[in-house]
Amino acid sequence: MILVTGGAGYIGSHICVQLLQAGHEVLVLDNFSNSKPEALRRVECIAGKKIHLLEGDIRDSTILDRALSHPVRAVIHLAGLKAVGESVNKPVDYYSVNVTGTLNLIQAMQRHQVYQLVFSSSATVYGTPETVPIKEDTPLHPESPYGRSKWMAEQILHDLSLSVANWKIVVLRYFNPVGAHPSGLIGEDPSGVPNNLMPYISQVASGKRPLLQIYGNDYPTPDGTGIRDYIHVEDLAAGHLAALTALKHSNELLTINLGTGHGHSVMEVLNAYESACGSKLSYQISARRPGDVAFYWADPSQATKILGWTARKDLQSMCNDSWRWQKLNPNGFC
Ligand code: NAD
Ligand code: UD1
Repeated sequence: MILVTGGAGYIGSHICVQLLQAGHEVLVLDNFSNSKPEALRRVECIAGKKIHLLEGDIRDSTILDRALSHPVRAVIHLAGLKAVGESVNKPVDYYSVNVTGTLNLIQAMQRHQVYQLVFSSSATVYGTPETVPIKEDTPLHPESPYGRSKWMAEQILHDLSLSVANWKIVVLRYFNPVGAHPSGLIGEDPSGVPNNLMPYISQVASGKRPLLQIYGNDYPTPDGTGIRDYIHVEDLAAGHLAALTALKHSNELLTINLGTGHGHSVMEVLNAYESACGSKLSYQISARRPGDVAFYWADPSQATKILGWTARKDLQSMCNDSWRWQKLNPNGFC
């Protein structure tokens, strides 16, 4: 059995589908602070299998003990808070969930002698990179409480792996996850105004928002707009299953980028989304967003070498799947 913390969320739900389809028993621990139980019902519908669910907070040792009293072989730890802007205003919440929550989980795993862990980290730990593509040994300069909370959790896991030989840990640094399950049944369901590009464009396409603000067209990129490494959430989920397999054969902590190795500009994403939804989308060029980096993308060669994993889906498929999800679920999981 695999314990998936935060399994009802955007990325977790896609991982759960693939785990079930691969024949794993799945136990989800989630407090639904940023997700809905309906997401898991749909996961079960796609996979045609049941999920075991515990509702609760990763900072609650009692619920963790209850989760780990199941026959859990490994944990995929996704539960966390993830909004960069919000983390600046609520740093304590971010350190509490992302750092204390992770510590709590590790302690509970030790109590129950479960030593295999896949941890969700983020490319945000690199901050503003000096060179691209970004390799895993690039110096880390997280620039927000969110980024620092992921960096701290990584440090804890690193020290843990040095202290006791039996821990097997893979830290996955995600680039920009987008897209949705091709069924249109699960996808990203942001609450309030989306902060990120793809969910914002989706809401412009569905008529929920009047236009996209493009944050700057004077970057040193071919069309002047920012470039990122967008990765289909299905590819990202597959990376977790590959990490679970790699865990078994590794005796050291592995830190691995999950990205495609290709960058796309805001304009390219907008154009691909227009092709997906079949209409022109309104936009306006506005000032650069403070703190934004002009361009970056991953060097995913370690993922290929160590996990045997490569991203397969292109930008058009990310936009097509995102649009199908948006069109079929204009109000998300409500
Ligand atoms: P999400 O918010 O959709 O999912 C997170 C899940 O964790 C939600 O279901 C939420 O209810 C749950 N959760 C939050 N706090 C909890 C707590 N204290 N106890 C139990 N459950 C809790 O986010 P996501 O996009 O699926 O991200 C999953 C992980 O990946 C996060 O750790 C995030 O930091 C990391 N990550 C996400 C992105 C991204 O762009 N989506 C990029 C890099 C890294
Ligand atoms: C953001 C997070 C990062 C997280 C990543 C996951 C910040 C500072 N960083 O990164 O921690 O890992 O999401 O996906 O929030 N853009 C617009 N208009 C919009 C929204 C975005 O032009 O309405 C542009 C941005 O300027 C950027 C690109 O689109 O060039 C991507 O932005 P976004 O989706 O927010 O991702 P990141 O900034 O890369």
